Amino acid sequence: MNRTRIPLVAGNWKMNKGPAEAGAFVRDLLESSTHAETSAAASPRAEVAVFPPPVSLPAVAEVLKGTPIAYGGQNCHWKSKGAFTGETAPAFLAELGCRYVLVGHSERRNLFGENDETCGKKMAAALAAGIEPLLCCGETLSERESGLTFKVVERQLRAALGGLPAAAQFTVAYEPVWAIGTGRTATPAQAGEAHAFIRQWLGANLAPEVATRTRLLYGGSVKPDNFGDLLKQPDVDGALIGGASLELASFSALADSATSYLTGLIS
Ligand code: PGA
Repeated sequence: MNRTRIPLVAGNWKMNKGPAEAGAFVRDLLESSTHAETSAAASPRAEVAVFPPPVSLPAVAEVLKGTPIAYGGQNCHWKSKGAFTGETAPAFLAELGCRYVLVGHSERRNLFGENDETCGKKMAAALAAGIEPLLCCGETLSERESGLTFKVVERQLRAALGGLPAAAQFTVAYEPVWAIGTGRTATPAQAGEAHAFIRQWLGANLAPEVATRTRLLYGGSVKPDNFGDLLKQPDVDGALIGGASLELASFSALADSATSYLTGLIS
């Protein structure tokens, strides 16, 4: 991790935690976590964010609005309104106080037909609504085994980010599909190599300052016992966490690790 960027520890709850459970979880998180303290302006902390299912967002917003813990949507549509049954406009998320929205998670791509083109439209729509999009990218196992990792990631980046202005504020999560929910984390070297590639791409194709400021998260079976080694990679600025974000103990431990790296307690 490079300490000039504030690390982000983001919990993607997927289709877990309905409104009551989600509200109770963030209440406990707020009470137990040092990451919720607003008075500690002098001591830097990792940023923490949760991504509940859409129906649970109002319950989460009620607890977290005005606190340092952020929340966001797991998906959005690119249109601002209309006949799109089941979809959510970015402005609706903004109205609830969402700071972020995930775009192009591999489950959306593989199970719900999302593609590079729709990811590009969603990125632009989220930004226009004042929400920071968090683009997910990453290769499947067969793509990795065929030596296509960088080619696939490059294609995903170009489609989603290629048309954005240099001022656009977004985050990228590198999530190799073979590591998601499998317990098979990328090695720190594999994650480091992919993140370095993404950062280099941002610098060459958008602007050098975009490469410097943009946070790159790793996602795929991140747990408290493997996060430390991932954070040692200079281009890993935090994580997008599925399974381990569902329990308070493991999610808090991950947030604490990122803060320890940021403050130099661990190096
Ligand atoms: P996982 O999920 O941590 O359960 O592997 C990560 C993700 O899908 O974002």
